[in-house]
Amino acid sequence: MKINLTDEQFDVVRHLLAKVAGLVFDESRKDSMAYSVAERMRESGTRDVPSYLLLLDDPEERQRLLDEVTIQETHLFRNPPQIRALRMHVLPELLRHAEANGRRLRIWSAGCSTGEEAYSVAMILRELLPSTAGWDVKVVATDISRRALDAARTGRYGARAVQLATPEQLERFFQPAPDGGHEVRAEVRELVEFRHHNLVTEAVPFAPRERIDLVLCRNVTIYFGRDTTRALMARLHQCLRDGGYLFLGHSETLWQVSEDFRLVSLGAGQSAAFVYRRVDPLHVEERRAVLPDRRTLDEGPPPPDPERRAEVRRAEVRREQPPLSADQLLDRTRVALAAGRYVEAAQLATDASLAAPLRAEAFYLRGRALVDTGRDDDALVDLRKAVYLDPQLGFAHFLLAGVLDRLGHAAAAAREYAAAADTLGAQPGDATAVELGGRSVRELAQLCRQLERRLAHGAVGEVG
Ligand SMILES: C[S@@+](CC[C@H](N)C(=O)[O-])C[C@H]1O[C@@H](n2cnc3c(N)ncnc32)[C@H](O)[C@@H]1O
Repeated sequence: MKINLTDEQFDVVRHLLAKVAGLVFDESRKDSMAYSVAERMRESGTRDVPSYLLLLDDPEERQRLLDEVTIQETHLFRNPPQIRALRMHVLPELLRHAEANGRRLRIWSAGCSTGEEAYSVAMILRELLPSTAGWDVKVVATDISRRALDAARTGRYGARAVQLATPEQLERFFQPAPDGGHEVRAEVRELVEFRHHNLVTEAVPFAPRERIDLVLCRNVTIYFGRDTTRALMARLHQCLRDGGYLFLGHSETLWQVSEDFRLVSLGAGQSAAFVYRRVDPLHVEERRAVLPDRRTLDEGPPPPDPERRAEVRRAEVRREQPPLSADQLLDRTRVALAAGRYVEAAQLATDASLAAPLRAEAFYLRGRALVDTGRDDDALVDLRKAVYLDPQLGFAHFLLAGVLDRLGHAAAAAREYAAAADTLGAQPGDATAVELGGRSVRELAQLCRQLERRLAHGAVGEVG
């Protein structure tokens, strides 16, 4: 059944979803909303939209509509740099802390969808701590979608969900499911507890004094408005212990949302992950005075990461001269790019990102070099990091939009063109840059706006 929603009907449903779950539906998602409503009408045997809207007075029907409209896209070991950071840095550190504090560890997968994120963390925990006898370790996994939670509890996954698992992990943590898929083994499942929970309207699902070591809230706030995200981050901040970690998704940032977390980089180069740590409110002013720009913070003393040391060493040997500063490396990268020496430019930008892991420009310039050598897939990673680290980097948004478009992600590309138009539009009209290719910055911003409209129009219904 295909239906059209009038503007008034669309407003009624989207206001309801904003109120009950914080979900924001802009005009570009009107058709996908109509599709969800049509599904619910078909399943509930409702004849017309006005009759269906009356059904929404019933909390059960609201829940079913939420199950329908929420986007459950996820997979095991999603976001490899963050998974690596969990295995190499975060979980070992949290386990050491727990060892010294009653052997108690609490992890929250907030917005866990069908469970892959929570099970991934539990599998890494099992690798690090094969026996939890004498420990109190729990991964609490929550979601607003009952349908997703039902699927999560079965612990059964198809080939696509497990594609980032290694053969050893598949062997160790899964058994064949009756339907031919993969079923999570008991030693992993017993660490995970699934609960229904609404991140927007409910208090955190823990006792008031309970403190959490790590919260993963990845790819959830992208569907919320800024005020909703701000209020949620305040609650997450409250339930985390000081020094606890917060993991957000690739495109989620606390820039201009919360001052209470510290951005840290874990790992090096391509595999660096950006995560947040809770800062004790008593120490915020003190830390701000010492470290004025959150975007340039690093972890302090580098973690004992042999891979990173070896990479830096290789870069030094290659140059056979004292290491160059990040600024010098970035200058050389630009020169190499201008001369069309893209492979060299990519290498120099890699060195710059090792010297300054939180410099957005290093990732942006490497993204440019990779795009120019036709490596869109690899460039995507760098460009996402660049705009994550500096959301004001208009040229990076522009380049990222092009890459996403070429890779077939129209809706995400439209969002990046919109961000490019906004950030470039805010620059002085007489700005000059090689990237402008002789255009004025205003012209490029207008072009981005046109591209955004074209893609948003073509991408109606896509959830990118
Ligand atoms: C794209 S999935 C993210 C899954 C996983 N965290 C990941 O990154 O792979 C987003 C999840 O957020 C959930 N969600 C959306 N609004 C929510 C809310 N108000 N409270 C709790 N969960 C919510 C959705 O049901 C969905 O399962």
